[in-house]
Amino acid sequence: MSQFWKPGTEKPRIVDDEEGGILFLSASASSSSSSRFGYASVEKQRQRLPVYKYRTSILYLVETHATTIIVGETGSGKTTQIPQYLKEAGWADGGRVIACTQPRRLAVQAVAARVAEEMGVKLGEEVGYTIRFEDLTNPGTTMIKFLTDGVLLREMMDDPLLTKYSVIMVDEAHERSISTDILLGLLKKIQRRRPDLRLIISSATIEAKSMSTFFQIRRRALEAEESGPRMEPAILSVEGRGFNVQIHFVEEPVQDYIRHTVSTVLSIHDQEPMGDILVFLTGQDDIDAAIQLLNEEAQSNGKNSSGLIILPLYSGLPRAEQELIFSPTPRGKRKVVIATNIAETSLTLEGIVYVVDSGFSKQRFYNPISDIENLVVAPISKASARQRAGRAGRVRPGKCYRLYTEEYFVNEMSAEGVPEMQRSNLVSCVIQEPMVSKMILSSSELGCSEEIITIAAILSVQSIWVSGRGVKKDMDEAKLRFAASEGDHVTFLNVYKGFLQSGKSSQWCHKNYVNYQAMKKVIETREQLRRIAQRLGIVLKSSERDMQVVRKAVTAGFFANACRIEAFTHNGMYKTVRGSQEVYIHPSSVLFRVNPKWIIYHSIVSTDRQYMRNVISIDPSWLREAAPHFYQNHRHNATGH
Ligand code: CDP
Ligand code: MG
Repeated sequence: MSQFWKPGTEKPRIVDDEEGGILFLSASASSSSSSRFGYASVEKQRQRLPVYKYRTSILYLVETHATTIIVGETGSGKTTQIPQYLKEAGWADGGRVIACTQPRRLAVQAVAARVAEEMGVKLGEEVGYTIRFEDLTNPGTTMIKFLTDGVLLREMMDDPLLTKYSVIMVDEAHERSISTDILLGLLKKIQRRRPDLRLIISSATIEAKSMSTFFQIRRRALEAEESGPRMEPAILSVEGRGFNVQIHFVEEPVQDYIRHTVSTVLSIHDQEPMGDILVFLTGQDDIDAAIQLLNEEAQSNGKNSSGLIILPLYSGLPRAEQELIFSPTPRGKRKVVIATNIAETSLTLEGIVYVVDSGFSKQRFYNPISDIENLVVAPISKASARQRAGRAGRVRPGKCYRLYTEEYFVNEMSAEGVPEMQRSNLVSCVIQEPMVSKMILSSSELGCSEEIITIAAILSVQSIWVSGRGVKKDMDEAKLRFAASEGDHVTFLNVYKGFLQSGKSSQWCHKNYVNYQAMKKVIETREQLRRIAQRLGIVLKSSERDMQVVRKAVTAGFFANACRIEAFTHNGMYKTVRGSQEVYIHPSSVLFRVNPKWIIYHSIVSTDRQYMRNVISIDPSWLREAAPHFYQNHRHNATGH
């Protein structure tokens, strides 16, 4: 690549590639901070997307059918363009709103920001978004609203027929996330009552036929109207323009996929022509570890890594950092985005030519016997592997490096993933966040709502500690400075206090191995929770030094997660009161090796064992106070001394 085009400033250079597709070179170093492209080029950019050719067809189908199913490759323009087409065609007239759902929060923010930018409006006005704890819409003004499917489900509680929406686009339906599936079921019911409502179901790959069968609605004779839309769903497939992707497998199974990822990235950088790299790992821990290792290796091997811009991408990443991911790679540099599954279909990154696929992702599994829901690192399906590889062929022919053997891919990888609904506990979807809510409500009575809201905010981020290899010893020492004998929740309060006292300083965080970005998120979430609590009439009070009431409030919410130590085993084994499951305190907890007799955990992670993350010690008598019905049946187990 020798020439670059900065859209809106000079003439674009268009190169016809041998497959007949058109290759657009990415823009050079980042443009003005206000906008990535001049206004004149916006229309052109929009018209180049594959979905543009189908604009009229889409509008026609939506007009005439209650449900339209749209299948099109990632990056074809479904999410960013279709809501705009609908708005242009008048579906947002008269105060009506066009909704577009996404399974993930980060995708909601990123896509809304992009659409606002394309329309040249301020985010939160004509184009807005709503995710948990954050509502950036302006009722009466917002015409296009992006939201998580979970948030739309919640809106249904106040407005069961979702009357303010004219069209609801359920995006990424192929992911079959639990909220998406429940949403689809409920929307089908709403459709019977609201013939004016239009549904669009869109995704990268979908079993369009079964989805269509599901949405065949037979209108009851009474309700039949001559003029209404057709009940038979329409299916439209948008032709992609993906380039060929060369697949490489490893010859032998890899021992440590993080190490292997790092060496693969470095050798691509060393040997392959320019082009950005997208790496698929499983979660924030993995990603942070890989980034750290990448920096270390690059330095120690003396390899020239100066051209590398290494960026993480996972849900919960602060907005400011998302910007970097989507901005064009400066000339002479190579971007390496280390991502979770979120980059598989939800987000399109321009300029990716190389993909490194670890073969794993974090997936939710529910064990109905133990009643424990786990996020576990599990092998991906062939369908996912193909999607991941496809990310390399967006701008020109690319390469995908799979960190598993071809034999494994062919013989062992499952063809499709299992829908989340078949592997989760439905409770949290049916009753939205009951445990945290109960904890906050109780804190109002106990007079410690300020503390509990802080705890709730901290528990909503993945971790407030910096993670990564190599720092473990120093970090453990740093943690000791905050450690509270009551457990992790109280330790969090100490960290939060320290952070406030430092004046929310990033240096302070750095010194104490606290993740500054996570703390900023905590402050934001805490503010949201505080507002919600105030609206609900919760008395905002602080209990100052009395941590017993804080522990009681946690118990009131999370009583179902109580565990008792099996003293005779001497190895830190606990049993859950509810299901007598074997569980252990996670090494990252301040109560690891302390092993109080009775504890409550916040969540479970399973690796070789079931580990409890974030635990607090309690007095068993509080359990009966907190949940008399629940603990009556368990009396022998629980409070019978
Ligand atoms: O939904 P789908 O995968 O079909 O595509 P999209 O998300 O609408 O993306 C269409 C185009 O918009 C892509 O080619 C991206 O380059 C661009 N886009 C972007 O630059 N920044 C975003 N935050 C989202 C999309
Ligand atoms: Mg999309």
